[in-house]
Amino acid sequence: MSENESDTIEARLPEQEYYRPPPAFVGQANVSDPAIYERFGEYPEGFEEYAQLLDWDDHWDTVLDASDPPFYHWFNGGRLNASYNCVDRHLDSYADKTALLWEGEPGETQRIAYQDLYRRVNEFAAVLRSVGVTEDDIVTLHLPMVPELPIAMLACARLGAPHSEVFAGFTAPALADRLADANSQYLVTIDGYHRRGEFLDHKRKADSALEDGSVDIDTVLVFTREDELHPDTKMEDGRDVLVADRLDEHRGDRLDPISRDAEDVLFLMYTSGTTGRPKGAQHGTGGYLSYVAGTSKYLFDIHPTDTYWCFADIGWITGHSYIVYGPLAIGATSVLYEGAPDHPHRGRVWEIAEKYNVDIFHTSPTAVRMFMKWGEEHLQPYDFNFKHLTTVGEPMQPEAWRWYYEHVGNESAVIVDTWWQTETGGVVISNLPALADMKPGSVGQAMPGISPAILDGAGNEIEPGSGTAGYLVLERPWPGILQTLYEDDDRYLSEYWKKFSDTDSDDWRDWVYRASDSAVQAADGYYRVLGRIDDVMNVAGHRLGSMELESAIVEVPEVAEAAVAPRDHPEKGQVPDAYVVLKEGVESSEEIRSEVIDVVSEDIGKFARPGNVEFVTVLPYTRSGKIMRRLLEEISNDRELSDTTTLEDSSVPEEIRKQVQGS
Ligand code: WT7
Repeated sequence: MSENESDTIEARLPEQEYYRPPPAFVGQANVSDPAIYERFGEYPEGFEEYAQLLDWDDHWDTVLDASDPPFYHWFNGGRLNASYNCVDRHLDSYADKTALLWEGEPGETQRIAYQDLYRRVNEFAAVLRSVGVTEDDIVTLHLPMVPELPIAMLACARLGAPHSEVFAGFTAPALADRLADANSQYLVTIDGYHRRGEFLDHKRKADSALEDGSVDIDTVLVFTREDELHPDTKMEDGRDVLVADRLDEHRGDRLDPISRDAEDVLFLMYTSGTTGRPKGAQHGTGGYLSYVAGTSKYLFDIHPTDTYWCFADIGWITGHSYIVYGPLAIGATSVLYEGAPDHPHRGRVWEIAEKYNVDIFHTSPTAVRMFMKWGEEHLQPYDFNFKHLTTVGEPMQPEAWRWYYEHVGNESAVIVDTWWQTETGGVVISNLPALADMKPGSVGQAMPGISPAILDGAGNEIEPGSGTAGYLVLERPWPGILQTLYEDDDRYLSEYWKKFSDTDSDDWRDWVYRASDSAVQAADGYYRVLGRIDDVMNVAGHRLGSMELESAIVEVPEVAEAAVAPRDHPEKGQVPDAYVVLKEGVESSEEIRSEVIDVVSEDIGKFARPGNVEFVTVLPYTRSGKIMRRLLEEISNDRELSDTTTLEDSSVPEEIRKQVQGS
């Protein structure tokens, strides 16, 4: 379905059988009473139940101030500090309890108790303070999966300085864009980290991001992964500060957490949209933290005695919400792993699960498909025992679901698919694990207090439960919702609200959040999310905008024009195919093909590399001058070409198909 089409499509999906949650799980679940849905039916007051999980310096006056939609203010008047809530307040009962269990790729371990976390967060907050960071300064982090990442986030939160973590796999240009957009004066990085057996030189990305001087950074704080600095790391005088030296000066320092307004910014998380620039989803403190704490407890069903492992990277929203803020807010033990799942062998994940006795495990369908492809023999040597398995990021195919259920869950764990987005802050569609039967391939029902609907292109609601696909929307705001896009309210309005809202109205009921996904709802009320309806792909659970890829590709000097379309991939979900038009007189060659692939690896990151590079003589343009990527997607996936009447020249797709397929 494309953005321009108003028709809905019928999604004919074979119905799947239900599986019951095991009684042993139900017996121990944090939520086993369906009355929760009624409590949250009291809108918006139901959400106070989540806010009550936190310690507030000042209680809120209003649960939701919706007087200026779609700029919503949750728990207005309330004050709190996120670092205090994730660390200090647990010291009374949990000082010695493990907060973070870190496994380095080479195999070393750190067990960080809440008491240690308190010390390390305070000391690093003192370092940040010593270089000038104060309340409301945006601190950019470019850190991999090392304990210093959650520590830095919590230290920022302690000072009331919003953080903006950029996934470590992003390269210099992507980092530079995000630094510039956030107007950040401070960057925190690390000399290197371990990945697939290599000790990578990571700081060089920060160096080259800052090289051309277009980003104005006063201070780069540099952590060290090993005792000695990475042999290739260079420190720039006057700009780079070695954290290890500074920490020595601040041993034992304690800084009072700054009391923040519920609506003060906690962090920015850049994500891909339909235009070239990444957009900074801005999350506040009170609503966000309430929502992730609540969903960690009720959906991930974490208890104080569990060892919980969200096998994701903190560089994306999943890790922010469900490795760091949610689990730590409720005093959990959260596992972090630095490296690759197949290093040094393909059983590494299960080895770690056994080693730490992990009982709740969260990952992506991409990872499940990969484990499935590797084969169950890699699991067999390990004695792990999960009671709860969850996934996020992409549609979960019933086949992969069954494999996960059988081989990872040993047919005795609950399997829960969760749908959400960077913008939603936390999970918004998913079954509460003890309250609903599982159905492979479905994300399940709305979370308590959440009101999804499916609309046709004209904005009319499609009959609930009819199995007809349309635009997935959320009709009422919830506490985890983004506040806006950083310094870009207009884009916030146009990306999420304009399409289906009455934008003249100041009644919040006339405003509808558009998720950019298509979905169907079956007769049992379960949703199934089909995929993005904008020019955004989902590569191995990572969101990638076509425009970002295309802007990188046209940097290759021989390239005149480029368009990117998603091709279905058995493991990664989708991979980008690049359609490239070369400049006049340039012959296609293997060198140019490699240049195209390399420029994407260099500008964005290896994870974004194109699958196929197709040299073509034209691209399909509409009369209004937009590239119709849908047609390229059909060619990439060997599907029949759909309607081409809006094209400038309707013979183009057939021509491209011939050029690509050579017949
Ligand atoms: C997009 C959001 C939120 C954490 C991970 C990704 C897709 C997410 C599911 C699911 C089908 C899913 C959607 C969504 N997506 N979860 N359970 N089933 N699709 O966050 O990078 O903001 O991407 O991921 O297309 O819009 P994100």
